Amino acid sequence: MKTSIILILLGTLLGGTSTLMSDEFTQKDLKVWKTEYDSVVKEGRKVFTDNTLGTNTVTCNECHPNASNTHPETYPKFQKQLGKVATIAEMINWCIANPLEGKRMALDDARMTALISYITEERKGVKLAPGKH
Ligand code: HEC
Repeated sequence: MKTSIILILLGTLLGGTSTLMSDEFTQKDLKVWKTEYDSVVKEGRKVFTDNTLGTNTVTCNECHPNASNTHPETYPKFQKQLGKVATIAEMINWCIANPLEGKRMALDDARMTALISYITEERKGVKLAPGKH
């Protein structure tokens, strides 16, 4: 019994190590990932400025020009509108439902991923400060 547990642990450890060691990226990988990422950021900018996202023609960009005052680096944090510690996706849904009078998105909606990518890209380089107000 004990031996088999040790063997399983050893296997996991060795397996884990070999996975770590295989994390070498080719120039081609890096290029594909950057192209994919850049296209999602671009799509995010589109959603952010889309006046059909909600029901009242208001866009995210009207209140947050170029993603200003979105503070992705402060998430997760307590948000009083939601009454709990929330992720940025939940706060984006709050803005969709309230200022835009729209329908909340599934948290894994491709448009949600695009919005978060765009917002975060705009704040690149800002130090992470989860929980901060
Ligand atoms: C009518 C103005 C308005 C519009 C339009 C709007 N927001 Fe907001 N947004 C706010 C207000 C007000 C807050 C709350 C600020 C706070 O308490 O942190 C907020 C907060 C946020 C936050 C959190 C900011 C922080 O400091 O924690 C994010 C992220 C955000 N909005 C994204 C969006 C996105 C994405 C859209 C479009 C779907 C959008 N907003 C549309 C007014 C707006």
